[in-house]
Amino acid sequence: MGKRKGGNKGVDASSFTRLNIDSCERTSKDSAALAKTSLEEVEEVVEERTESSFSDSAPPSSIIGSDKTSADYYFDSYSHFGIHEEMLKDTIRTKAYQNAIYHNTFLFKDKVVLDVGAGTGILSLFCAKAGAKHVYALECSQMADMAKEIVEVNGYSNVITVVKGKVEEIDLPVSHVDIIISEWMGYFLLFENMLSTVLCARDRWLVEDGIVLPDKASLYLTAIEDADYKEDKIEFWNNVYGFNMNCIKKQAMMEPLVDTVDHNQIVTNCQLLKTMDISKMAIGDASFTAPFKLVAERNDFIHAFVAYFDVSFTQCHKPMGFSTGPRSKATHWKQTVLYLEDVLTICEGEALVGSITVEPNKKNPRDIEIMLKYSLSGQRSQVSRTQYYKMR
Ligand SMILES: C[S@@+](CC[C@H](N)C(=O)[O-])C[C@H]1O[C@@H](n2cnc3c(N)ncnc32)[C@H](O)[C@@H]1O
Repeated sequence: MGKRKGGNKGVDASSFTRLNIDSCERTSKDSAALAKTSLEEVEEVVEERTESSFSDSAPPSSIIGSDKTSADYYFDSYSHFGIHEEMLKDTIRTKAYQNAIYHNTFLFKDKVVLDVGAGTGILSLFCAKAGAKHVYALECSQMADMAKEIVEVNGYSNVITVVKGKVEEIDLPVSHVDIIISEWMGYFLLFENMLSTVLCARDRWLVEDGIVLPDKASLYLTAIEDADYKEDKIEFWNNVYGFNMNCIKKQAMMEPLVDTVDHNQIVTNCQLLKTMDISKMAIGDASFTAPFKLVAERNDFIHAFVAYFDVSFTQCHKPMGFSTGPRSKATHWKQTVLYLEDVLTICEGEALVGSITVEPNKKNPRDIEIMLKYSLSGQRSQVSRTQYYKMR
């Protein structure tokens, strides 16, 4: 089993932390240099440094985003380039879109495209290069300013119009578009709830027989052996330097862990829970209850359920897409691990049956509530339980 890293896409805590660490390091180096001076001298030096450092080394105001502080990024992580770098470098993701577009130029020829949540504008550039008549790149974060510059520098200003604003609030320069393209998927497919933004764009602007790319997304469930990592992440709280921190263990159990799972850990089959047809579904269809039956493929222990998703572009010549499952090459979405209260002992052929209910949090629809009901009536384990999880 590989050593796991955590990580969140929605709130880019890593870049926020990095910014803080950098400033801490700077502070401690400065303090060392000033250690032998008196408090008054320190104040003078700090004032001098503040003045001189701003006048000498401040970036020119023409650099977009150079006036941002960590506070700006904390609530709007998509304004920082780091998260876009991670997405662009996820070649499984970005090349799947590139191939779907470049290998199916017939879809784009002379068509008006809307790129929902354009970020750096990468998908808009692909569509423009594939022959789209016009592309509207809609982006609500400060990254829209960068996208404008990127479009200009690459010579696509006559084909791509970057529109800065929220899908739900903004008016487009046109009343209809032929194609909607978007990379909206979050952890566990639905975290961040950007799907509702795509459906809103579809209902506002897509022509009657228009196309949504990708148009299908499916969520799957399997079960894994995960003794070492459960011990490290969950049981750890039982005894922390001799103290009982079980109250944190309860919270840790409720938070699905975003991480890569080795395919050798998979004990059962993989069950399709739900397929969403983005071109037809209603917003309410993102809340659902799905039954599952996971049959053991070997004798083993089960410590967790694992969820992952696939997306497909079924409008292409040949169906295309990618999977975020543990048997596929890892993406930045990794997989989502939901730990079980019980360690199950399962024998080959026995079935872990139950249902999963998924819905957005009522107060904050970007978060997800998950209810898992499962039971196993096997030779070694007889269990029936309901567990609740929150992705936030
Ligand atoms: C997952 S990123 C994809 C960025 C880019 N399309 C790509 O593939 O690299 C989603 C983008 O959608 C933007 N976004 C999210 N909600 C939005 C909304 N309601 N209106 C406009 N943009 C939105 C985010 O700021 C973010 O840049």
